[in-house]
Amino acid sequence: MRTRNPYPTDFHDYINTEEGWVDRRIFWEEEIYQQELEKIFARSWHFIAHDSQLPNHGDFITTYMGEDGVVASRHSDGLVYVYLNSCPHRGNKICFADEGNTRSFNCNYHGWSFSTQGELLGIHNEQTYDKGDIDKSSWGLRNARVENYKGLIFANFDHDAPDLESWLGDYRWFLDMLIDNEEGGIEFLPGTIKSYVNANWKFGVENFIGDALHAMWNHDSGAKAMMNNQPFPPAVLEDSFHASMNGHGWEFALDGYADIAILGQPEVIEYYQQLKPKMAERLGELRSKIFGSLASAAVFPNISFLAGSGTFRVWLPRGPRKLELRIWTIVNKHMPDEIKQAINRGTMLTFAPGGTLEMDDGENWEGNTTTNRGFITRQEKLHYGCGISRRIEHEEIPGIVYQGQYNDANQRAFYQRWADMMNAENWNDIPERYTPRYTGKPTR
Ligand code: FES
Ligand code: FE
Repeated sequence: MRTRNPYPTDFHDYINTEEGWVDRRIFWEEEIYQQELEKIFARSWHFIAHDSQLPNHGDFITTYMGEDGVVASRHSDGLVYVYLNSCPHRGNKICFADEGNTRSFNCNYHGWSFSTQGELLGIHNEQTYDKGDIDKSSWGLRNARVENYKGLIFANFDHDAPDLESWLGDYRWFLDMLIDNEEGGIEFLPGTIKSYVNANWKFGVENFIGDALHAMWNHDSGAKAMMNNQPFPPAVLEDSFHASMNGHGWEFALDGYADIAILGQPEVIEYYQQLKPKMAERLGELRSKIFGSLASAAVFPNISFLAGSGTFRVWLPRGPRKLELRIWTIVNKHMPDEIKQAINRGTMLTFAPGGTLEMDDGENWEGNTTTNRGFITRQEKLHYGCGISRRIEHEEIPGIVYQGQYNDANQRAFYQRWADMMNAENWNDIPERYTPRYTGKPTR
């Protein structure tokens, strides 16, 4: 008779990077999810916004760090502050808008008001409080640490966490391709698109961190529709790779253009054809070839993007079986307007909720998640063994590198980092799986 597998207390027992499998219960169980909120999301650096989304004093956006709602706003000192979107009086949200500009936030319930730095400024009918009832300086909103990498604003509530540069580590070498491939860097085009998928948040991330394999099968017709009936380029193992560190990953070929072509906008390809020699001077020949290739990438725990296709997204967890996907289009700041608009058109046609490719993926992730409703089903393991013996050392590519982008290597590394953090009581408990090359040094 089939019995229930015991729940391991060591989270490394939910994954096996040598045999290549993952326990399905991490995609379903509420108890595991609650521990993720504490051990992963309350300790990680989260993408909050790009500088271009908050250019002026008083500009704000609201988002989530795990399930903790936060407000990010640019204060009069020019800095961005990130703090809980929950009033310390009775807990209501202090801001219900997605974004905007304000001098202060006033809570709907009893009228406490807060600065764009999160301090408690005033209280409606303050005379009803006797002297000594409240020290306003200690009842502001809880602030997170905020750090910025080349315009990307990150926040973290854990004051013991390593700084952002150490958290990203050598992944900065990859991020530079996305955000620093041309003088002036990038900007986020206006508008955030939100959608909801009945899937565990990790399925979105693991797809972008390493799953090239699904593209030419799952997206075959969508890709042909976007590329004048051309399919994705064939699977080439010699000139393609998986690379990961600290749970972040990038899988890529070296064709230079497949992810740009998917937008179906020929003028964008022409733009990059002209830019590539300059990109090679700026980032080196290799990175100029990686940019725009058939590729996908993610930053642990829940940020993903495609360099060249212009989609940037976060997978916000909404319980173990639901995620909120927020997407933006990113472009180079110095591109001509018509190229920016062509990229935006392309991302809306492909990687938006009504896009040809996004719909393919979401349906699969819902299936991956909801089949685990079955008691017998979720006692089974999932296979993550592709390319398990293809690890290599590469002179130029930093990280834990595997040959061939048709591989589960980045997914295995992602789940290993997941288990490392789930087990760790403090930061010293998290093993170093890779020795970075660029500690203390810029990557460009
Ligand atoms: Fe915010 Fe009372 S809950 S003022
Ligand atoms: Fe996909």
